[in-house]
Amino acid sequence: MISPIERRKKEHLELCAKKDVSFKNKTTLLEFVELNYLALPEINFSEINLSTNFLGKNFSFPFLVSAITGGAQVSKKVNTEIAQACQEMGIGMGLGSMRAMLEQPSLTETYYVRDVAPDIFISGNLGAAQLKQYSPKEMNDALQAIEANALAIHINAAQEAMQPEGDLDFSGVVEKITEYAEQLSVPVYVKEVGHGVSYETAMLLRKTKIAAIDTQGAGGTSWTRVDSLRHKKSFGEEFRDIGVPTAVSIIETKNAIAGTNKKIIASGGIRNGVEATKAIILGADMVGNALPILQAQTKKGTNAIKNYLENFKKEMQITSFLLGCKNISELQKQEYVILGKLKEWLEQN
Ligand SMILES: Cc1cc2nc3c(=O)[nH]c(=O)nc-3n(C[C@H](O)[C@H](O)[C@H](O)COP(=O)(O)O)c2cc1C
Repeated sequence: MISPIERRKKEHLELCAKKDVSFKNKTTLLEFVELNYLALPEINFSEINLSTNFLGKNFSFPFLVSAITGGAQVSKKVNTEIAQACQEMGIGMGLGSMRAMLEQPSLTETYYVRDVAPDIFISGNLGAAQLKQYSPKEMNDALQAIEANALAIHINAAQEAMQPEGDLDFSGVVEKITEYAEQLSVPVYVKEVGHGVSYETAMLLRKTKIAAIDTQGAGGTSWTRVDSLRHKKSFGEEFRDIGVPTAVSIIETKNAIAGTNKKIIASGGIRNGVEATKAIILGADMVGNALPILQAQTKKGTNAIKNYLENFKKEMQITSFLLGCKNISELQKQEYVILGKLKEWLEQN
């Protein structure tokens, strides 16, 4: 018998692989960020090195695959193929929500990828609304069982509101995040799921001991869309485009955490290396995405993911070259121009 959580995990994978699950009219607004193109970059392309260290682990370029799955039998194959590609590329990956394995420990193996990825950064995952159901000690044990390097706590109020079985008690969540960040033996970071972290949300998280915020802004996969497709009836479409566009989310998060040592992961609809480089220039330390990785995995497994990531890295290197930047810290000092809708959004906030 398949449990309700396992069924949901399976449906998420199938819907994301087969249906149009993107935002309808809203974009990331990264198209309104213009870069300082240099016709004379005065560097040698071969000097460009985008490697970095994030929460104690080395990355060959600043890419962290966003959380996708775990908990269904099909998750094992998906996670293994993503992990193999990440190990070969020298980057990190996020696992999907660990609620299924916390409820049913026999599902632990659907998350375990250390056998194929001994060296990479791996983050475990749990929903903020579910924190109250487990103690930090239980979570620590679960993270140890899969040999994770960090915990990503996802904040997904919009998504939960679309689920007939959704958990809508978000009271006391910041306090729980605070407790987890203080008590776990690995770093904790907070991620949205594609509707974006705003200035106000980042300010609430500023005072906690979390190590990073993963913005997961609007403009890519819409989780209100995915979950409304699951139950097909009543409502959902009205909320498809709700959220803070990725470019706004990066800038507002950067402003909110200024002066702390918290890191920013930029994500949500980032689809190529040019957009990723713009995100770094806006102030992110890392970038990531989920849907393109799942689509590549569905098509042709590890090799397709690797090809996608190799292209992505090349696009980041070429963009850096055309700006005359050799590394991430030079990119983060780059100037840029903000136009149109993005400018309007920022001016009014
Ligand atoms: C099939 C699938 C399952 C996902 N499951 C989770 C999850 O369990 N926990 C989580 O934090 N995010 C989950 N996400 C959300 C992604 O991590 C990411 O926040 C979101 O898809 C937006 O990024 P994108 O536009 O690059 O897809 C999932 C994404 C996909 C495609």
